[in-house]
Amino acid sequence: MQRPNLSYLTVGSLLFLLLGLLVTAGIPALERIEPSERAVVYTPQQAQGRAIYLREGCWYCHSQQVRAPEVGIGTVLVRGDIGPESVPGDYAYQKPVSWGTSRQGPDLSHVASRPYASTRQWQLEHLKDPQRMVPGSLMPSYAHLPAEELEALVAYLLTLK
Ligand code: HEC
Repeated sequence: MQRPNLSYLTVGSLLFLLLGLLVTAGIPALERIEPSERAVVYTPQQAQGRAIYLREGCWYCHSQQVRAPEVGIGTVLVRGDIGPESVPGDYAYQKPVSWGTSRQGPDLSHVASRPYASTRQWQLEHLKDPQRMVPGSLMPSYAHLPAEELEALVAYLLTLK
């Protein structure tokens, strides 16, 4: 009977395979983030609204990430308290996350906590005609979206507290 030829190469490749399996198995564990108390489990309508937010590219102009130095001070766009600093757990149920790329408009992390923007009515009117609600606003109108999509978008915006 021939003895198995366990050369260094064979042992080496087995170890490499094992390492690969361990790393692959570990990746899902790394992706799991503990949800913060602000993390939202979306209803179907809110999830639809979030998908529309991504589809329409709202994130081109709006961030959803409050940084430590802005807390209690605000940004150039919204002075004062813009809400608590963002933590990884805020995004636990978001895939993909919508941190945004720049701020042509205010950060929206906690927009529904601002008293004037906390109602369905204001959000709906603002989406349809931003300039009427905020004179001089550079935000485009979304009045062309179907009413059902606007409602979903508003339902999503109202989760941003
Ligand atoms: C071209 C840039 C741009 C795009 C795209 C854009 N916005 Fe805006 N948005 C702004 C600007 C500028 C303001 C500030 C003036 C105002 O309130 O209208 C603003 C304000 C807002 C506010 C009020 C924020 C506050 O703190 O008062 C909300 C809510 C909002 N946008 C939601 C959206 C949603 C939802 C979309 C996508 C459907 C969107 N925006 C797309 C530029 C943009």
